Amino acid sequence: MGIQFKPLPSVLGAEVSGVTLRGLSDPQALAELRRGMDEYAVLVFRGQPLSNEEQVAFSEQFDGRLHTKTSVAVLTKNRFGNEALTDISNVGADGNILGAQDRLRMSTISNRLWHTDASFENPPGRYSLLSARVVPPVRADTEFADMRAAYDALSDEQKVEVEGLKVHHSIVYSREVMGFEFTAEERERLKGAVQPLVRTLPATGRRSLYLASHAQHIVDMPVPEGRLLLRDLMEHATQPRFCHRHEWRPDDLVIWDNRTTMHRARPFDDKKYRRELRRTTTLDL
Ligand code: OGA
Ligand code: MN
Repeated sequence: MGIQFKPLPSVLGAEVSGVTLRGLSDPQALAELRRGMDEYAVLVFRGQPLSNEEQVAFSEQFDGRLHTKTSVAVLTKNRFGNEALTDISNVGADGNILGAQDRLRMSTISNRLWHTDASFENPPGRYSLLSARVVPPVRADTEFADMRAAYDALSDEQKVEVEGLKVHHSIVYSREVMGFEFTAEERERLKGAVQPLVRTLPATGRRSLYLASHAQHIVDMPVPEGRLLLRDLMEHATQPRFCHRHEWRPDDLVIWDNRTTMHRARPFDDKKYRRELRRTTTLDL
């Protein structure tokens, strides 16, 4: 029957069936999935159990080199011995749930702000592949917003206003907004990066807003003026009509394109219930 894409009841995303991701290396199937990403921006796969190694292998097959520069890598030692695999969990090195005041937990609370992965690095992240291993017995969704639809819905005047602008992204900025503090050495390793505010997806020619909580200021614009524009755009781009909410089940894999979407984690009682997801992010070269 081959690979099937079933569009989600939303402006973005499709659920994919008819493919097993573990060990996948068939060039035609991989090309079809990449085409699906260009069209839908978020792909949801159900019932795809992956070990850490299998997830890394599939991610490399899918899009080549993986990002290893995450803020988590700066804050703590990776539990899995591979910086390409980000530990999206509330679990510490000893396997226990992190304490209420734990520094890693405090930092990752900022995943609840709308963001794109690794926009504060150069090169930034392209695809993120997030697999669910343990989900809590309460909803702990991830929400996505379509930045192509958000760009399309700008007025002609607004499109002219954002054209050609460059934005400095910093994870130190987005964490400090929440009251998290970095050491001087950590700041030194997380200097940030400049990104275009509007991107064009090469495969489709569609334009999208490239926003994130990491967006700190607009280059060559007075800081308050730039920040106001960024806030207005964030408010515009995250209207419910542009969003989809993914309810996690164990063995889900969700792939999103950081060039055309933003995402955020939705709250759950993480002091009580264990939650574990693993993320790989490819390099946007
Ligand atoms: C991420 C992320 C969302 C979540 O992996 O970058 O933001 O639900 N995850 O934890
Ligand atoms: Mn993220």
